[in-house]
Amino acid sequence: MQINRVLITGVAGFIGSNLLDYLLEKTTWQITGIDNLSTGSKNNISTHLNTTRFRFVKDNIRNLNSVKQYDCIFHLAALPRIQPSFEFVTEHITENLTSSMHIIELMIGENHFPKFVFSSSSAIYGTPTTIPTPETEAIECLSPYAFQKYEVEKYLELLSTRYPLDYICLRYFNPYGPRSFNPENKFNAYSSVVGIFLYRREKGQKLLVTGEGSQKRDFIHVSDLAKANYLAAINPNKLNTAFNIGNGSTLSVLELAQRISGKDYEFIPKREGESDITFADVKKAKDLLGWHPEQKMEDYLKSN
Ligand SMILES: NC(=O)c1ccc[n+]([C@@H]2O[C@H](COP(=O)([O-])OP(=O)(O)OC[C@H]3O[C@@H](n4cnc5c(N)ncnc54)[C@H](O)[C@@H]3O)[C@@H](O)[C@H]2O)c1
Repeated sequence: MQINRVLITGVAGFIGSNLLDYLLEKTTWQITGIDNLSTGSKNNISTHLNTTRFRFVKDNIRNLNSVKQYDCIFHLAALPRIQPSFEFVTEHITENLTSSMHIIELMIGENHFPKFVFSSSSAIYGTPTTIPTPETEAIECLSPYAFQKYEVEKYLELLSTRYPLDYICLRYFNPYGPRSFNPENKFNAYSSVVGIFLYRREKGQKLLVTGEGSQKRDFIHVSDLAKANYLAAINPNKLNTAFNIGNGSTLSVLELAQRISGKDYEFIPKREGESDITFADVKKAKDLLGWHPEQKMEDYLKSN
């Protein structure tokens, strides 16, 4: 299907706003972005608000009553933090599961099946036994958040046995990049670690390393995530499957803290529900989407 009009949910968030930048530059598509600004910020998209190819709708995605006009939907809106998902369970079920199902049901109800690119998470692997981790790894959800992401994947799979859904799930590993830390976000203490570390260094505060900092993370630059979304959208095949989107390498949180601030860090207790290691096997995305990561952490740290 030729793509002309697309919808980005969660456009004012970290990854959504970077996806908007990418698509405005890379395509000629008309882009509608919806966000209720619950954790996102209009500042993230302010440079594009007068762009004719972009329309911003400040609303809850559960108020959408049609998606018929879109050729592709990038579904990013969510409450994406592990720790708060233990505390505000119902709110997270509503935002991460019910909201996603609302959009999926609209597609089914309207008998209109645009490419649906769902932002999933490597959190669904828990602490994996296969390193690097392929998509075939057993699912082990250690938090409500991870479980909700997995539920959406599973519903897509189940419903596609009855309806002609055309979807791709992108399991992001540990994203970093511009706008990853929003000080106004009520859950900002649980933002991506690179963003928090850079913010604390800028404010002259010690970095806080959880546990012993030995947990390893596969950090992936947000523009590489945006590229994965784009390649998923333009893929002509109905793939109906999930892809790991990570860098295919790891760095420990302690090493990251040392690279960012030398010795200016301290340890705080380990948090439940967080994996000891994330390390993506990205062969499937390379083979089927033609995607590969391009950005390097050292370049990002040098420029920040
Ligand atoms: N950042 C990460 O570490 C990470 C890792 C893996 C997967 N993901 C997934 O990527 C997606 C984007 O994450 P992010 O880091 O950009 O998060 P974010 O919090 O920066 O952005 C999410 C956006 O969704 C909006 N939103 C939430 N509920 C909404 C609703 N009901 N209606 C309209 N807008 C709503 C928020 O206001 C926010 O702007 C999420 O689905 C998340 O689960 C993120």
